[in-house]
Amino acid sequence: MSGTPSAALKGVADAESDDSAAGTKPAIVLDHIVKTYASEPKQGRNPRAVDDLSLTIEPGEFFTLLGPSGCGKTTTLRSIAGLETPDSGEISLAGRTVYGSSAGINVPSNKRGIGMVFQSYAIWPHMSVFENVAFPLRVRGRESRSSAAELRTAVHQALETVELDAYAKRSATQLSGGQQQRLALARAMVAQPEIMLLDEPLSNLDAKLRDTMRVELKRLQAESDFTAVYVTHDQTEALAMSTRIAVMQAGVIQQIGAPREIYEHPANAFVAGFIGRTNFVEAEVLQSPQPGVSTHLVQSALGVPLPARSATPTPAGTAVTLCVRPENIRLTAPAEQTTAHSMTGRVLSAQFLGELTEYTVCVNDTALLVRAEADVRFSRESTVTVAFAADATWLLPR
Ligand SMILES: Nc1ncnc2c1ncn2[C@@H]1O[C@H](COP(=O)(O)OP(=O)(O)OP(=O)(O)O)[C@@H](O)[C@H]1O
Ligand SMILES: [Mg+2]
Repeated sequence: MSGTPSAALKGVADAESDDSAAGTKPAIVLDHIVKTYASEPKQGRNPRAVDDLSLTIEPGEFFTLLGPSGCGKTTTLRSIAGLETPDSGEISLAGRTVYGSSAGINVPSNKRGIGMVFQSYAIWPHMSVFENVAFPLRVRGRESRSSAAELRTAVHQALETVELDAYAKRSATQLSGGQQQRLALARAMVAQPEIMLLDEPLSNLDAKLRDTMRVELKRLQAESDFTAVYVTHDQTEALAMSTRIAVMQAGVIQQIGAPREIYEHPANAFVAGFIGRTNFVEAEVLQSPQPGVSTHLVQSALGVPLPARSATPTPAGTAVTLCVRPENIRLTAPAEQTTAHSMTGRVLSAQFLGELTEYTVCVNDTALLVRAEADVRFSRESTVTVAFAADATWLLPR
């Protein structure tokens, strides 16, 4: 690790990590993790909060766990941190097993070399802003010979990065919610952990500050070189920040991939529906990909045969779901730009949203959600030509 916020205290952090050859090993490996809470209601839902979850995170990744409320994101994160003990499985950090059910290993949380920012940012109310950030260093400092001056420098650097240096002397309770969240971030960063676990760390910030902090967090990560595991249920945030995303549902990972890969090639309808908005249309394959042609031809409820891609070639006659994103549908005045695959539609509704206009368009009795740039203007009941952008339609098995 290098750079801010506490280069002066680098030795303190290093004293904790016992493996200097860790660079080539994955930062985090979860192997078949299962976690059940005793009080979890069993009817009609998965009783496992985390259900046989395996994943590997490389050093320096910004890895996001994304999914709806209750899908097991926090439980996964707390298991990595050692704040929750799984029922079974194995967790290793930089090649060192920190939890193993069969080997009976369970390394305490404070020996895992992890920094954490929780969903409920637990700052210490009886301490000043400065002391909140200094505390983790004071605890570690007992085992090292870092001086008071080094500690002060490290704390002020950490506070500066979250723009709270001017508040150092205040009591932590005199900060706004967003400021407390930034304080929690500074406190987690000050000891320069190899791994940073962030559970919705921006949830209490207003939209503008959240945007700023996203950029800031990414910058901090690039500079300090930690591996980040980030939890959010905000798909825009996940797409913007992550090297890879794991989409979770009911304790199970549905798909792991780079943001673009997940957005453009969702593995199933849950992922397609959760990440961004998607039109789903029932269809049947007319023609599977031919030599030199990468797309299928499908017949759908929209009436006109349409080209579409999929993860694997699907034979003719297969029932499928055709997916198309609202921003990949083009509306033009009738007969302006017709092609073999264009359709005729009727505008059911138009909603001006500032940067764009959202339309509902009826094509052959099927309603499609369309997002068009704001300067495309069609009124209700007008007839339009509807076309899908090339390579923008995706097939899922039904
Ligand atoms: N301490 C607990 N005792 C009993 N059940 C729990 C406990 N903590 C979590 N659960 C249950 O485990 C499941 C997963 O919870 P978890 O907190 O991991 O979800 P999450 O994805 O973080 O949700 P959110 O986005 O709302 O924070 C939920 O069904 C939840 O009710
Ligand atoms: Mg949570």
